[in-house]
Amino acid sequence: MLLQRVKPLERILAEGSDESKPHSLKKTLGPVSLMAMGIGGIIGTGIFVLTGVAAATRSGPSLTISFIIAGIASAFAALCYSEVASRVPIAGSAYTFAYASLGEFVAWIIGWDLVLEYALGAATVSIGWSGYFSNFIKNAFGWQIPPMLKSSYFDVGAGGVVTHGAGFMNLPAFCIICLIGVLLYRGTRESALVNNIIVVIKLAIVAFFIVLGFGHVNTANWTPYFPFGVTGMLGGAAFIFFAYIGFDAVSTAAEETKNPKRDLPIGIIGSLLVCTVLYIIVVAILTGMVPYKLLNVASPVAFAMDHVGLGWAASIISLGALAGLTTVLLVMMFGQTRVFFAMSRDGLLPPVFSRVHPKFRTPGLSTIIFTIFIALIAAFTPIDIVGSLTNMGTLIAFILVSIALPMIRKRYPNTDGFSVPFGPYVIPALSAIFAVGLIFSLQYGSPKWFGVPAPWLGFIVWLILGMVIYWAYSRNNSTVGKEEAAATRSM
Ligand code: ALA
Repeated sequence: MLLQRVKPLERILAEGSDESKPHSLKKTLGPVSLMAMGIGGIIGTGIFVLTGVAAATRSGPSLTISFIIAGIASAFAALCYSEVASRVPIAGSAYTFAYASLGEFVAWIIGWDLVLEYALGAATVSIGWSGYFSNFIKNAFGWQIPPMLKSSYFDVGAGGVVTHGAGFMNLPAFCIICLIGVLLYRGTRESALVNNIIVVIKLAIVAFFIVLGFGHVNTANWTPYFPFGVTGMLGGAAFIFFAYIGFDAVSTAAEETKNPKRDLPIGIIGSLLVCTVLYIIVVAILTGMVPYKLLNVASPVAFAMDHVGLGWAASIISLGALAGLTTVLLVMMFGQTRVFFAMSRDGLLPPVFSRVHPKFRTPGLSTIIFTIFIALIAAFTPIDIVGSLTNMGTLIAFILVSIALPMIRKRYPNTDGFSVPFGPYVIPALSAIFAVGLIFSLQYGSPKWFGVPAPWLGFIVWLILGMVIYWAYSRNNSTVGKEEAAATRSM
């Protein structure tokens, strides 16, 4: 039966472990690289840009509580990802876990859904990058990018109201995506090295903001604490959940990990922990330095420094943020190509997505295709829309992973790997409940299309498109399906 078509775990593991095969990836990553990959993927547009948007349009100073709620949701999900990724250490992340447990159709849905997380996530980050880039070259060299070329035509303001301003396309966002595409085309190893260096810079910049900003907090800015009510604060949590996305991308590198059972949990949970602590401190300081109403700007963290008269610090922060956002882009675009790599290797997508470059050993053509796709979205879509849709896609993946966890344990009792505490149900259930709560809260502050919140509607349209492709192409080309059919014929 099609919906129950499961890919046996033994086979999944065997396919990934043979480095001599043409469709295999090099095993180069250890715990330090993985944690750096996690931090590299987590600290980015969420903290550097969306904090400002969320404070001004949704949470106000209660953004600190929004961050705590989203952090708790992410922690439960991180535990689940650590377990499944260490038991199924193969490229493809949630997609592969689902194929081994929930069956081909759900696996397809997850893989398709992850495009929202990784590709749209990368687009969101590049728009944030563009804001800091414009700010930096203006402060450092006095150059102004014409408004036509630094934002999309539409914009979203407080209350989800859609406006259109002076923009046409976001050229810096388009260009940075193309640049990252080239880097990834050339190979994981170089990219991981670049990532490690930049992660250090990024952490230093965050620490710099905390140390310098602390003395400029004016507690009067924390009143009123809930200017948009509790629903506004929840809408803020759902929106800045984006800031935590990225730890799960570590699991997409499972197949390139030397010792997945030990290294994946360290990479996933460790990186999330470091970032959560830093975020909560940064947000409390940011909302204390600047009245929340002023924070809806393209580079709010630098703006806060400017606001208290530390223009020199604003430039340093912009430069650090630019470097930091670049590593997020690396992780997200890397994740995207690896998920499609796994799906293509299973016959669910055309072979072009798993064709490995003979010299660089990376999915070269797939990287080119996604680079163009993401660059176009980044150039023409407002950050509020792509950011919320990214959250929507990610939260759906979290829910499916939490369902997959007990099924993997039950179906494959002999796999050894990291285990979540309190048995296979408690943490996954909490993870799913928090994810559903955040999905529900995404409506607060989002624009509505046909009366439906934009991220919900966008997701439904994407889901329908995915189902059409599955029925038209994937189910007929599935490797597992073809083998099942052959086995039935020979019986
Ligand atoms: N968490 C990542 C960011 O905030 C995606 O940019």
